Amino acid sequence: MPNSDKIEIRLTLLNAAVFAAVLVSFAVTVFVVVVDKQNQDSHADVRKLADAVIASIDFDEDKTRNPNSAQPDLIMSAMPDSSSQLLQAMKLQWFNYKQQLIAEKGSFTIVPALQTTEGFQDQVNPKGIIFSKPVFDGDRLLGYVRVAQPLDKQERFVSNLLMGLCFGTAAALLIAGGGVFFLVTQSIRPLRKNMLMLRQFTSDASHELRTPVAVIRSNSAVALKYPDGIRDGDKEKFQMISSAAQQMQRLIESLLTLSKAENVSKEKSNVNLLQVVQDARQSLMPLADEQIIKVEFLVPPNLQLLICRDDLFSIISNLLENAIRYTPPGGWVKIQAASEKERVVLTVQDSGIGIASEHIDKIFDRFWRADKSRTFHGSGQGLGLTITKRLVEEYGGTILVYSKLDSGTTFKVLLNAIEF
Ligand SMILES: Nc1ncnc2c1ncn2[C@@H]1O[C@H](COP(=O)(O)OP(=O)(O)OP(=O)(O)O)[C@@H](O)[C@H]1O
Ligand SMILES: [Mg+2]
Repeated sequence: MPNSDKIEIRLTLLNAAVFAAVLVSFAVTVFVVVVDKQNQDSHADVRKLADAVIASIDFDEDKTRNPNSAQPDLIMSAMPDSSSQLLQAMKLQWFNYKQQLIAEKGSFTIVPALQTTEGFQDQVNPKGIIFSKPVFDGDRLLGYVRVAQPLDKQERFVSNLLMGLCFGTAAALLIAGGGVFFLVTQSIRPLRKNMLMLRQFTSDASHELRTPVAVIRSNSAVALKYPDGIRDGDKEKFQMISSAAQQMQRLIESLLTLSKAENVSKEKSNVNLLQVVQDARQSLMPLADEQIIKVEFLVPPNLQLLICRDDLFSIISNLLENAIRYTPPGGWVKIQAASEKERVVLTVQDSGIGIASEHIDKIFDRFWRADKSRTFHGSGQGLGLTITKRLVEEYGGTILVYSKLDSGTTFKVLLNAIEF
């Protein structure tokens, strides 16, 4: 997937995540506030009714002396109108001072035993809220008022509210997601155009530079082939020209590969991993022999990948070349491959100089090189791993690195396999 597409998706997802966070927090706040308000209202309603009942108790002179005189009929009839309306959806009970139920109104069923202290109780089945309050005449206990309110309506309201908020949030998210995607696509269009132009320029410039550099290289090589015709002091200059031209050629090739990595639609085919490993090893054996490095490989013959062969060759040879170059003489390099679930895992391990932990994040950056590596590979460009990572990711793969300074490095490449 081209980089600009990835940016587009990442930006859309990021924006959508921010929207989602805002919407969900808003929905949660609305839910909590509304439910809390309802809760408070229910509590206030039952308390209001209980207080209204207590306020409506009207004792005459003699009966005041007798605790049993707080007659329920009197209480019920004396209740204010607004409270009576409240009672329709509630239950009201009057207990005498012995905690015996004397009278009740309303059809709601109250399950728990009377609570003799003032306070609320929650009832689960049937769902309701209960408020009990003892009634005193001075210091004398007359009885208890108990009021209950069913919460089924509130429950229904809360579940409707929850459903509405969930659907509303999901719908708002979908609309916002679409809008964000549209805006991101629009705003990223000029950036995508610039990136394409830049890549095209890199590709064209590298391509155009190839020929003159090849001419410089071949001419200096020809001159060096017949040193007799060269003045004494000029031989060294020709050697410098030749080595600089070689370095330029490598850089141009790397830049070309890098620009192609995202640009061109490539021809993929079934490629046998072992064959490509063998080819890469063969091409790098002269370097390994020169550096006195032992190269071993253990790759099963049946691992196939759907990939452009040249890309797989670049991936393996870049890693193998690094392993050879950054390993002191007498060391070893191992290439191994195995299938894990639906993936092929390719590892390139060396006993070389290793990478400092603070540098691990940088090794895939363009043109980055560790200072220490310059003594091992003076003409390196710092582009090999950038290209390798691009290529691996282009095929939906992953590249991982494990390294310990002065002990060695292991690169692990995971790619989708097609056959075993
Ligand atoms: N196997 C390894 N062991 C130790 N260091 C490594 C290894 N592979 C990569 N590095 C470090 O990562 C840097 C970047 O590697 P990369 O292959 O991108 O560039 P390079 O080898 O310097 O140049 P070139 O572009 O020619 O490949 C190297 O310069 C080196 O410091
Ligand atoms: Mg390299």
